[in-house]
Parts: sequence; C-alpha cells; structure tokens
Amino acid sequence: MLPPFNSASSLEDPIAGLFTGMAIYLVAILILVIVLVTYACIRYRARPGSGEPQQRPGNKRYEIAWTLAPLASLAVLFAFTLYAMSGSDPSPEADSNPDLVIIAHQWWWEAFYPHSNVTVANEVHIPTNVRWYLRLESADVVHDWWVPQLGRKMDAIPGHPNFFWIGARRPGTYTGACAEFCGAEHAWMPTRVIAQSPADFQQWVEQKKTTPPPPASEDAVAGSGLFMQLTCPDCHTVGGTPAKGTAGPNLTHFASRETLGSGVLDNTPSNVERWLFSPQDVKPGCNMPNFDLTAMQVHQLTAYLETLK
Ligand code: CUA
Repeated sequence: MLPPFNSASSLEDPIAGLFTGMAIYLVAILILVIVLVTYACIRYRARPGSGEPQQRPGNKRYEIAWTLAPLASLAVLFAFTLYAMSGSDPSPEADSNPDLVIIAHQWWWEAFYPHSNVTVANEVHIPTNVRWYLRLESADVVHDWWVPQLGRKMDAIPGHPNFFWIGARRPGTYTGACAEFCGAEHAWMPTRVIAQSPADFQQWVEQKKTTPPPPASEDAVAGSGLFMQLTCPDCHTVGGTPAKGTAGPNLTHFASRETLGSGVLDNTPSNVERWLFSPQDVKPGCNMPNFDLTAMQVHQLTAYLETLK
C-alpha cells in the first residue's frame, strides 16, 4: 500500500493512524449528512397546494444543537491529533545529542554521524529498531525532509536547526522527497534512507571510517592527479587526500553509492562519464560546473572515482 498506510516505524504509526482515523470519521459524517439531506428532500419536498412551509425563527434548542455538534466533532479530531503528535514527535531526553545530523543543500542531502565522525551524501543509513534523534540544518534555502514511512516531516531552515526522530522496524530502503520548493532541481532532491540491522549498520559505519586505497591502475592514478589539479578539491572531500572541500558531496566512498547526482542517475561508470561530460545537462542548475573535459580526462577521472569505495 502507499504511504502513509505502510508505516515502517513506531514514529509513523500514530500519523498513519491519525490519517486513517480522520478519514473514517469524516466519511461517517459525510454519510450522515447525505442521509439526512436526502431524507429531508423527500420528506419535506414541495407538494401541490401545500403553500409556504412553516417558519421557525430563533429556536434556541436547534441553535445550541448545531453549535455543540460541530464543536464536539472538532474536539474528537483535536484529541486524535494530540495523541498522534505525542506519539510521532516525542520530546527529547534532556541531554540528548543528535545521533545524526542532516544538512540539506541545493540539491542533495549531507549526513554526518557525530558518534563515528563519518560523513556521507544522499544515502542515509540507520540501524533498525532504535529511535534516532536527528538534527536538521540547511546550507542555503528552506528545504523539507520527508520520508513518509519513517516519521514526521520537518523543515530544514538556514540558521535554525530543527530536531526530530526517525526509526525503522525492518531493514529496507525507504524513499522520500524534499517537500519544500527550493529551486530549479527541487524535484531532483529525493531522500533515501537505508535501514539495516544493527550488526550490518555497524559494519557499514566501520567501512565508512576507512579511507579508500590509493589508486592502482594507470588511468586511476592519472585521474587522481587531474582531480587534485582541477578545482574538484575546492568543493569535494576525499578522505586520506588533500581534498577537503565541503560545498559539494563528500566523495570518500562515492563508488559505493547506488545513485549519483542525488538520485538523478544510477551510479554506473558510463553514467559517471555522462555526468562529468556535462553535469548541467544531467541536472540543470546544479552547482557543479561544466569543465569542458576531454574524453580522455573524463575516462581517467571516472577510473579514479570508481576506486573510491
Ligand atoms: Cu530541497 Cu526542495
């Protein structure tokens, strides 16, 4: 089923429940109104010779009834909502530090794991069966984090970090989207959260703490030289090298990501070449400029990037 009905988190359950509960309640009211209106239309319809219907101005009992009924009905919805809010957005423990810091950029997501000092981009891994406390920031404009199966939506506001929880019951890949218009490539700012069993997750973290081995093949060595010579290190970090830029995605483990350009293309060598030839054709408006690289340069850079595992 479509979200929010296939909730995968105890933090999303109250939201899915609220949606379902409200839908049932409102449809019940709709049916009641249709039945009453239909009944009134038939029972009190105009008949030949019956004249004007009887007028009843200022009936106190009716006035009270049709004020109290909607009030009571809204009170029920308010109670549903309060219950869902407390379940989906629990207040943090007093001194809780975030388990994960997410920074929204035009148009990709950066994820920093403060406890292990690991930084990745676009593919956010979390362990299953624990509630994680997130700090959400923005590097430029207002974005909005939303992975419907895992919890609530949250705005990413420049200069104003927001905190919220996410979690996943089962391992899997959970997709979402940036839910606030943030510029030309807003539509290409998907979110991917990969939930893994705690053991698998720990293994993933350990792998991400490593730095990639130095390139071995001739092409990759040449590509690595090009990477450092061109302006790539101004924006990108590659662990274990002098490249320490932070404006663009961290590329330390680039080759182990499933997609590139934040989900625009599958991460295959031919797509990496396509991206390097002309990022502006693949993702118009993105901050990666066209470098007018030669076919040889693209080939060597790709060979290097493929070693970043
Ligand atoms: Cu980021 Cu829309």
